Amino acid sequence: MLQIQQNVSLRNFNTFGIDAKAKYFVEISHADDLTELFLDPQWQQMERLVLGGGSNMLFVQDFDGLVIRMNIRGIEHRINHDEVHVEAGAGEVWNDLVNFCVTHEYAGLENLSLIPGSVGASPIQNIGAYGVELKDVIESCQAFEIASRTIKTFAKEDCRFGYRDSIFKNELKGKYIITSVKFRLSLTPDVKLHYGAIKEELEKRGITSPTIKDVSQVVSHIRVSKLPDPSTIGNAGSFFKNPVITKEAFEKVHAHHPEVVHYPAGDDVKLAAGWLIEQCGWKGKVLGHTGTWKNQALVLVNHGGATGEEVYSLSSQIIDSVYTKFGVLLEREVNIIA
Ligand code: FAD
Ligand code: EPU
Repeated sequence: MLQIQQNVSLRNFNTFGIDAKAKYFVEISHADDLTELFLDPQWQQMERLVLGGGSNMLFVQDFDGLVIRMNIRGIEHRINHDEVHVEAGAGEVWNDLVNFCVTHEYAGLENLSLIPGSVGASPIQNIGAYGVELKDVIESCQAFEIASRTIKTFAKEDCRFGYRDSIFKNELKGKYIITSVKFRLSLTPDVKLHYGAIKEELEKRGITSPTIKDVSQVVSHIRVSKLPDPSTIGNAGSFFKNPVITKEAFEKVHAHHPEVVHYPAGDDVKLAAGWLIEQCGWKGKVLGHTGTWKNQALVLVNHGGATGEEVYSLSSQIIDSVYTKFGVLLEREVNIIA
């Protein structure tokens, strides 16, 4: 029998550490729990929020509906010649899965080491870091369709992955709950070292033929040096996406700011949002209980006791100033729960 709790504090369920409340709260440990839950029309009709590790969310107010906390566990694997197919429950901690694979020498997830959150959320924004995105390693995912109360399989192509984007953030938003994710990994590593910071750190350590364990350690080291640890400083990683703009729009920015940090993105150009924000004077600034991180201006932080509204208001000020200075509109990457 499912336990539905009432008036639950979400403070320990979001990495910003915002003290919002959920009107109703349920933990899901098995896919069948979802069938049971949605047999009751009350929960079908109610506003819902699926919650993993709460590491990509900002609660701007209390949530006046049902929070569905995913806790489906389990990691299984099958080896087929050189390939390893690994399937993990939505409630597994992402970095535990990475560590499991690195320890067993299943290659593919090592560049995604130390990203907070759950396996089930990883396809939502196609998590990415240090030259690898989820789309490079995912085979498929299983998701519970709320309307039909059935589980469907989404092949990688069905997920329409893009930069910090998928079908689950667009057409299918709110319609499916991911229950497990399957990855296609390899027993013969093809280490991805093209992200500059990885190469530099490997050189510093004198490593010329890195193993996937080396890559995982180096990525973890770089991340710790740049990003605040949510267990001490509340945050949700990059608050904004790096803006992708047309070449023509880029030429205008470049003409006035030749030093703008940018990367090719297909026919377009991706700008480093952290650089834009830093140029507007925001890096390391403290405003009340909130501010931007001293080593990474793209990360907004809770210095203790911040409300979601304060953080949101800071993000709006940053959007305004970047737009005024560069004519570039930043888009929030973090999910705003209002
Ligand atoms: P939550 O925050 O709980 O949820 C995020 C979204 O997914 C919400 O819309 C939620 O409703 C939905 N959701 C969650 N689980 C499910 C499910 N099972 N089914 C359907 N919908 C679901 N992200 C990166 O891509 N790259 C990084 O390098 C990175 N670095 C970070 C560093 C720090 C310090 C922090 C705090 C965050 C970072 N993030 C990064 C963001 C975050 O880790 C990812 O977005 C992660 O996938 C969120 O997982 P979660 O379980 O915490 O999701
Ligand atoms: N920069 C600055 N000032 C800053 C921050 C960055 O000038 O305060 C410039 C620097 O030139 C730096 C460049 O921006 O070299 C890129 O910075 P960084 O390598 O830290 O990466 P990012 O583009 O800011 C993205 C992702 C991160 C991911 C890293 C590594 C987005 C929105 N963010 O950050 O993802 O970990 O690359 O791949 O794409 C997240 O999504 O939460 C996240 C942390």
